[in-house]
Amino acid sequence: MKLGLIGNPIKHSLSPWIHNQLLKQANIPGEYNLYELEPGSFAAQMELLKKEGLAGFNVTVPFKQKIMMELDAVDEQAKLIGAVNTVKIENGQWKGFNTDGKGFLNSLRVKYPDICNADRKVLILGAGGAAKGIFHTLVHAGFENIDIANRTTDRVKEMTKSNDTSDGAGIITLADAEQRVADYDLIIQTTTVGMKPHEEQQIISLDNIREGTVVSDIVYQPLMTAFLKEAAESGARIHQGHEMLLYQAVYAFEIWTGTSLDEHGLLEALEAQLKGA
Ligand code: ATR
Repeated sequence: MKLGLIGNPIKHSLSPWIHNQLLKQANIPGEYNLYELEPGSFAAQMELLKKEGLAGFNVTVPFKQKIMMELDAVDEQAKLIGAVNTVKIENGQWKGFNTDGKGFLNSLRVKYPDICNADRKVLILGAGGAAKGIFHTLVHAGFENIDIANRTTDRVKEMTKSNDTSDGAGIITLADAEQRVADYDLIIQTTTVGMKPHEEQQIISLDNIREGTVVSDIVYQPLMTAFLKEAAESGARIHQGHEMLLYQAVYAFEIWTGTSLDEHGLLEALEAQLKGA
């Protein structure tokens, strides 16, 4: 089975490592290759990709929205999110899915089942592609108290407008979010702030955080971001970026192969891989 990833830059992606482990576990002979595409001639590059004989591929930055124009069908959830991270190819037909939000929510549910309760108060920091997937998945799961803070407020309006049930979502500034961190049960950091090589950066300070709050950061390089470090030192519970990374990959693999695998055993191996990176 031939699989792959399109995006740019993707040289340091962990997806080949993860999917090769999954292929091995599922006993499926196959390969997962990287296709680092130039943003310019996307449609022409898609024509070339069609000749590769892939059974499916993942999509990452900056193509998660662009790919949607090339698809024959889009799953309902991905349509709502407005981005696709997984394409399944069957009889030459391309169908798009988004496993980012589901990967996030299920990895959180496994670790902290108490927090995955719809009445919990949630703060999402950021309004990019990852935030969209997480926001729509939480709304779909019934969460009703979600505030979103982003440097650019207009992007939050854009992100919440396609969702009829998101009227309850509050749009606040990053400064307000910082003041009000004690109000939330779950805080989700979805921006690129704090990612290598700028690991000293932090989107907001967590001075006022309550003990026991769950703080999640989707950045996984470094594994322990400055944001998570402050959270842990203040008695919060943390959820790290590689947990979502692994789960979204497992769900993509399931879409391509029909095989569900146990994510848990792979988590430690992935941590070791990241620490060595
Ligand atoms: P994606 O590829 O996931 O869509 P993106 O659109 O680049 O990523 O979004 C990245 C997120 O990080 C956005 O919320 C962005 O804020 P803006 O919408 O205001 O651009 C946020 N972000 C990136 N750098 C930031 C910084 N230095 N300070 C605050 N937010 C930042």
